[in-house]
Amino acid sequence: MNKRSTSLLLRNCTRQSSSSSFESFCLYLHLHFSHFKFKFNSNPNPNRIKFNSHTTMAAPSSTHPPNPLITPYKMGRFNLSHRVVLAPLTRERSYNNVPQPHAVLYYSQRTSNGGLLIAEATGVSDTAQGYPDTPGIWTREHVEAWKPIVDAVHAKGGIFFCQIWHVGRVSNTGYQPNGQQPISSTDKALKSTEYTQPRRLRTDEIPNVVNDFRIAARNAIEAGFDGVEIHGAHGFLLDQFMKDQVNDRTDQYGGSLENRCRFPLEVVEAIVNEIGADRVGIRLSPFIDYSESGDSNPLQLGLYMVNALNRYNIAYCHVVAPRMGSIGGKVQNPESMVILRNAFNGSFMVAGGYDREDGIKAIGENRADLVAYGRWFLANPDLPKRFALNAPLNKYHRPTFYIGGHPDPLVGYNDYPFLDDDESNTVRS
Ligand SMILES: Cc1cc2nc3c(=O)[nH]c(=O)nc-3n(C[C@H](O)[C@H](O)[C@H](O)COP(=O)(O)O)c2cc1C
Repeated sequence: MNKRSTSLLLRNCTRQSSSSSFESFCLYLHLHFSHFKFKFNSNPNPNRIKFNSHTTMAAPSSTHPPNPLITPYKMGRFNLSHRVVLAPLTRERSYNNVPQPHAVLYYSQRTSNGGLLIAEATGVSDTAQGYPDTPGIWTREHVEAWKPIVDAVHAKGGIFFCQIWHVGRVSNTGYQPNGQQPISSTDKALKSTEYTQPRRLRTDEIPNVVNDFRIAARNAIEAGFDGVEIHGAHGFLLDQFMKDQVNDRTDQYGGSLENRCRFPLEVVEAIVNEIGADRVGIRLSPFIDYSESGDSNPLQLGLYMVNALNRYNIAYCHVVAPRMGSIGGKVQNPESMVILRNAFNGSFMVAGGYDREDGIKAIGENRADLVAYGRWFLANPDLPKRFALNAPLNKYHRPTFYIGGHPDPLVGYNDYPFLDDDESNTVRS
């Protein structure tokens, strides 16, 4: 997409009399000209992969319906200018668990004025790791390393939450301090030999892990984040307690729904008390069984959690739609999501396989307040603008999602093209 076609799109857009096009145009101006810019002097990468754009959406037309994704939303204390959220995306480029300077440009590129970003899953302790080069937030060095990244997002008017996680049994001794066993709700091993048999946490150890989450949240605020998202999804530690096909405990953290949800809710409560409810979100995936984390009654589990969360008045609840659980990622089961949405009192965010049209429908039909986009945002740093303009999208390049896909970590990271190429190396101060 070059400048000429962008201005053509804009010209088309300004010709429309509908309020949607007018809103889109206003958003374009808002996203573009609201802050002073300076150029980031990174060299253009000679290894840059050529990403082929493909058109997934039609250009705006006079019959184009209003775009609810591009409407403001007040999420508690935060005034968001639109509903297109950057989903948490592990990129495995934080060497030794330390966030790197290249993340400044990466997150800054994905920031829009009034847009909400959720940082990649970030470890709460030295036992939390299970993947190469994922960031942490349990040491002073981690906190200091996050600061310039958070500053860059704030300089462009973004709102930035840090996703904090513990992988539990999705790990092996190679990631653990002193080569110890990973911890979990259970001592049942995952089938793959990639993982080591976990050690079931003793009841009296659980408060220590709750405390790790609390300190990580405090550290995130110290690093400048606006809040934290507790990773309660995708078969990681908190999910290992919630799901009845993993949790086989007989203490007060196992058995009944109330018992299985006790630990995640203790984490929520500790963090709410530490940093304030309006800075806390949580991600849940009751319908998804990644890493052998199925539940016999996912809707009942989801409902129990959202009802319990209502007690805390947190900033948002973020639920991954069931369709991501199937190969192809397009299994529709919005009913169960609507039930959770209706049961939850606060801001409800959805994710998992949404494209622009799905997002428009989800917001337009009041099935969600916010939509988090993963792969499309990864490949389209200016995704809110593209959605506003109904512009073509870059394809994502799967082999470079994680480190190891290319010898240069910046490839497939900082080099996805913008609609307007001038923007791609821009960081604001
Ligand atoms: C490369 C990659 C990394 C991801 N990392 C995380 C993560 O750190 N935390 C998380 O909760 N989900 C993670 N996810 C899941 C995404 O947040 C999102 O839910 C998923 O991609 C489905 O949304 P999409 O269809 O918009 O991509 C990741 C997904 C991808 C593709």
